[in-house]
Amino acid sequence: MINDAALLPKPTLTGRRLRLVPLSVRHAEHFWHATQDPEIRRLTGTRREFTLAEIEEWCTTRADQPDRLDLAVEDLDGGYLGELALIDLDRDNRSAAFRIALVPTATGRGLGTEAIGLLLDHAFTAVGLHRVHLEVYDLNPRAQRAYRKAGFTLEGRLRESHHWDGHWHDTLLMAALSTEHRAATPTPAAT
Ligand SMILES: CC(C)(COP(=O)(O)OP(=O)(O)OC[C@H]1O[C@@H](n2cnc3c(N)ncnc32)[C@H](O)[C@@H]1OP(=O)(O)O)[C@@H](O)C(=O)NCCC(=O)NCCS
Repeated sequence: MINDAALLPKPTLTGRRLRLVPLSVRHAEHFWHATQDPEIRRLTGTRREFTLAEIEEWCTTRADQPDRLDLAVEDLDGGYLGELALIDLDRDNRSAAFRIALVPTATGRGLGTEAIGLLLDHAFTAVGLHRVHLEVYDLNPRAQRAYRKAGFTLEGRLRESHHWDGHWHDTLLMAALSTEHRAATPTPAAT
């Protein structure tokens, strides 16, 4: 059973160097800027253009969504570092998809791995998910590495499924399971 109280209301999750907070309209301008960044667009395969008004509307309505979890990543002073989400919730199979995008100034410092770990802890222990899965392009080795460090395993490869800048790319399928996640996190009794 999924624990709806862990999806609505939206939680605040605090880590060592960052905090995951409910995505809201106060994040909209930073979020919109990120959607304009060519490198983020390349790494996430974003083709659509968004207006600021669309992003404001999006951020404003995230708090009311019962079947997904959209959180902003902030430093401990409240500075915007990016956003992440659990989406495509499948209640019968207790699974969901995951996606994340940090702003360029936040990448490469271990913050993504920390944010993903916090979200997975919440997904498995509080929400009650069994499986969290994602897609990542072969052109994004940094994300693949961060996902592996956070506990995702490579499950498959959709060959030449993504066309970007005149080249074909593979889409990699990765997933993390609650059973493996618990095994990877030592319990007090085991330490
Ligand atoms: C993907 C993302 C969340 C990762 O978070 P991050 O904070 O940048 O990553 P971390 O610093 O935690 O870890 C990155 C790892 O990749 C490694 N890495 C960096 N560049 C690499 C490269 N070109 N090839 C292989 N590994 C690389 C780093 O060395 C590090 O591994 P290590 O700790 O073993 O040394 C973040 O970079 C991001 O949001 N990027 C922009 C959007 C994006 O790519 N989203 C994901 C779409 S699927």
